[in-house]
Amino acid sequence: MDITFAIITCSDTRDITEDEAGAALESLIKEAGWSVCTHDVVQDDMREISTAIRTATDDLAADIVLTCGGTGLSPRDVTPEATAAVCERDVPGIAEAIRSYSLAKTRRAMLSRACCMQRAVRGEDGLPMGKLALVINFPGSTKAARECWEAIADQLEHAMQMSRGVGH
Ligand code: MTE
Repeated sequence: MDITFAIITCSDTRDITEDEAGAALESLIKEAGWSVCTHDVVQDDMREISTAIRTATDDLAADIVLTCGGTGLSPRDVTPEATAAVCERDVPGIAEAIRSYSLAKTRRAMLSRACCMQRAVRGEDGLPMGKLALVINFPGSTKAARECWEAIADQLEHAMQMSRGVGH
């Protein structure tokens, strides 16, 4: 099954040339046989992050958006809020699976507020097209991004099947 990913790294300090975590995710996605339609770095800013998610799903047809960074406790960490601003349905099981897997690697995993949600993709007229995209927040370090991918990658194909309404 073809799955198209968008990678959006949220960071005030990184640019695309230094985005090691995003590059690692890009490699992991391609190794799994899937494609990446965009890999972008935006500032830790609600509007920038929300716009990037909306562009990825509605204009670039990303099935899954992986955000990277901005999930922690600092005042500038707003990725979960920016995700919630453009998504309708919570998918708590994926975030729970990531946290549970991650806690076995580091107790610091409890310091990530990462969420996972579905967005109803809009067409050019701004109306929902009957298609759901998945937005998954990962923490920003390369190590964390790799671990979070390991935690969920084997379930993404089935998740997309269900999101597309194909069923089991
Ligand atoms: N999850 C995994 N799997 N591995 C990690 O190393 N680091 C934690 C946590 N989640 C980590 C992890 C740390 S140290 C922080 S501060 C939070 O993610 C938030 O990271 P972020 O602000 O880069 O999103």
